[in-house]
Amino acid sequence: MVKLDSVQQQPEEETPAATGRSVATRKLYIKTYGCQMNVYDSQRMADTLAPLGYRSSETPEGADLILLNTCHIREKASEKVFSELGRLRQLQEAAAEQGRRLLIGVAGCVAQAEGEEIVRRAPQVDLVVGPQTYHRLPDLVTRALGGESGRRLVDTDFPAESKFDFLPEEAAPPGPAAFLSVQEGCDKFCSFCVVPYTRGAEVSRPVTDLVAEAERLVRGGTLEITLLGQNVNAYHGEGPDGREWGLGRLLRRLAEIEGLKRLRYTTSHPRDVDDELIEAHRDLGKLMPYLHLPVQSGSDRVLAAMNRKHDAGFYHRVVERLRSAQPDLALSSDFIVGFPGESDQDFAATLRLVTEVGYAQAYSFKYSARPGTPAATAADAVPEAVKSERLAMLQQLLGEQQQAFNRTSVGKRMQILLERQAKRPGQLAGRSPWMQSVVVDAPSRLLGQLAEVDILDARPNSLVGKVVTLPEEQDEMARPDVSPKVLGITA
Ligand code: 5AD
Ligand code: SF4
Repeated sequence: MVKLDSVQQQPEEETPAATGRSVATRKLYIKTYGCQMNVYDSQRMADTLAPLGYRSSETPEGADLILLNTCHIREKASEKVFSELGRLRQLQEAAAEQGRRLLIGVAGCVAQAEGEEIVRRAPQVDLVVGPQTYHRLPDLVTRALGGESGRRLVDTDFPAESKFDFLPEEAAPPGPAAFLSVQEGCDKFCSFCVVPYTRGAEVSRPVTDLVAEAERLVRGGTLEITLLGQNVNAYHGEGPDGREWGLGRLLRRLAEIEGLKRLRYTTSHPRDVDDELIEAHRDLGKLMPYLHLPVQSGSDRVLAAMNRKHDAGFYHRVVERLRSAQPDLALSSDFIVGFPGESDQDFAATLRLVTEVGYAQAYSFKYSARPGTPAATAADAVPEAVKSERLAMLQQLLGEQQQAFNRTSVGKRMQILLERQAKRPGQLAGRSPWMQSVVVDAPSRLLGQLAEVDILDARPNSLVGKVVTLPEEQDEMARPDVSPKVLGITA
């Protein structure tokens, strides 16, 4: 899961509202916590507010509306919201002293889980909107501006209508690498996880809508699309033939879009990796050879208590099938240490699994009890000090694997999508097919392009490369022809 603290969009010129009338420009600041789905949602929220004249800004200063798009996955993530609201209250008071009204809204998963409790604990909050109802944001904002307040402006329904049917087209250009939400919610009910409660039941968007949105992104300059879903490979949307399509079939259809160079998807569940998806990895050159496939633990006992619905052997077999279909595949995972009842032997089984599978990258967390989830009431909690010790050991091993993987890239030539300015002037940063960050010396005109790059050096979290072919000199890219030996890091 990528950690992103804020989503910023470029301010734009004033444009006419949906009504065709010109509206005053207002400043919108959205701070995004948590996963890529929230990043996508924040962009869509900005789109819904554009017809009211709201333009995104990179800083909260002088904003007319501040939205916190929140994450509820672990306790720390949730608590951040309330401390941020404390800071925003001061900004709101300062605005009032200058005779300006600053609206504050809470969106996302904390909004869904805590709803009216937020308005009670933080009266400076003007509106609360859940992940399934943000298409109603313009109405909530208009009512808040009209003087309505409190519980009436809390909208955390799971409505019968789909928000996607009400969202306007993107207000800002999408950028070279874009997200596309294809599926939301989760029916897996892992015993530690709030997602089935905050995001609700699994819902998949129809294929035709997704193809249209993907084509629009590509027309706007996007070269890489990451399909998003809380349980993305449980995707089962309606196909143009009226039948249910799985993710493998959807990927195959999207790969046909001319001008689209790269496809990715996240986050997957091992139980939902079916033959069609494995065949997509075998056949589609545009599907990048990198997969985030969380396992959480290597212990069968813990996996059962987590209600993951598979054991370690099953995970190994899924990985084997994927790697025989696509030998270049690099893997990433999420791990939880200190789940209630996790013994030293259980933790040793996790270390063993990591050694056997070999990861290019991974995220690991201390277990955090979430109210309302089955595991939260478990009696056999692991002491905090033990959790910390296990996390340090696991992160040490994962860090070594990541560095080993990065070292295998040195001396290779690969295609890098140059997505952003690097910290140093004169440098751009992008992603390798395997999701590694790569920094190169390059003029800004190459921003947004795929460049052929020689990898010169590996740092712990990134690679350093040199552009060898300018994008205009390249042939159409299918599969990158040179690849690091991903399997080299397995035991
Ligand atoms: N405690 C710790 N980590 C959690 N995750 C989800 N719920 C919890 C929890 N209660 C982690 C899982 C998941 C990732 C998104 O967050 O590893 O895959
Ligand atoms: Fe949470 Fe499990 Fe669903 Fe993933 S699969 S979102 S961890 S309940």
